[in-house]
Amino acid sequence: MAVHDFDLFMDKVFKKTGIDLTKYKRPQMERRLTALRDKHGYKDFLAYFQAIDANQDLYDEFLDRMTINVSEFFRNANRWQVVMNRIIPELLKSRTKLKIWSAACSTGEEPYTMALILSKYLPMSEIEVLATDIDQNAIDRAKQGVYHARSLEAVPKDLRQKHFTSTGTGMYQISNEIKRCVKFKKQNLLQDPFEKEFDLIACRNVIIYFTEEAKNHLYHKFSSALRKGGILFVGSTEQIFNPQSYSFHPYDTFFYQKM
Ligand SMILES: C[S@@+](CC[C@H](N)C(=O)[O-])C[C@H]1O[C@@H](n2cnc3c(N)ncnc32)[C@H](O)[C@@H]1O
Repeated sequence: MAVHDFDLFMDKVFKKTGIDLTKYKRPQMERRLTALRDKHGYKDFLAYFQAIDANQDLYDEFLDRMTINVSEFFRNANRWQVVMNRIIPELLKSRTKLKIWSAACSTGEEPYTMALILSKYLPMSEIEVLATDIDQNAIDRAKQGVYHARSLEAVPKDLRQKHFTSTGTGMYQISNEIKRCVKFKKQNLLQDPFEKEFDLIACRNVIIYFTEEAKNHLYHKFSSALRKGGILFVGSTEQIFNPQSYSFHPYDTFFYQKM
């Protein structure tokens, strides 16, 4: 009975939003959404769906809970050292402009980290990072570019001094120079088409939530979206176990190069 109820909920969510919850690992998703439903006292998922369908605040909260927007600048800082000291210099040997994408960018910390790193190598006018996420609220926050001091802890001191201004309340505003380098767009990784010929794609800390089938499909899509020699950067729990089946070879820990 309960199973049927959640299946119906997933179906209705898909019709309303285009978000296919069946492509996310079910136990975690069902647990998170059951907790949310119970918090509001709805007896089943049908009643909960009717509520989110009618009330924008409840809908936003649902989206917020299902997407999980946690992020920070230079998340897993030693991996970003690889981007800064090895990948970008190597990519720049063969071209002067790089095509870079932060897929599932959440509130912007990851694409802005890319732009901060690139600012060490290229004139600002040459830097363009595509940043996409399924969650419009996260994108709106990313565009504002205001962050808690906590999420800036791993930003190298020189970049912090140059590109962040304190707003006096424990919050920091990122510079317009960096903001201008990032183009934000709403996109569902599991459904929408991808651009091609990327040099570097970061897709971190989202694939972990997807089913094996969805993961497999996504790795193929990323592989086709990269140019030969391009790099896929994944999260620190998201190692790919059979990279060659997607025409990748391991480049460094959590980095894969398109063959
Ligand atoms: C934990 S955040 C990761 C942020 C950043 N990549 C990082 O590693 O810090 C996960 C993000 O994935 C997004 N997301 C979830 N499902 C998605 C989908 N199907 N397509 C695009 N983005 C999705 C969520 O909205 C959320 O912002």
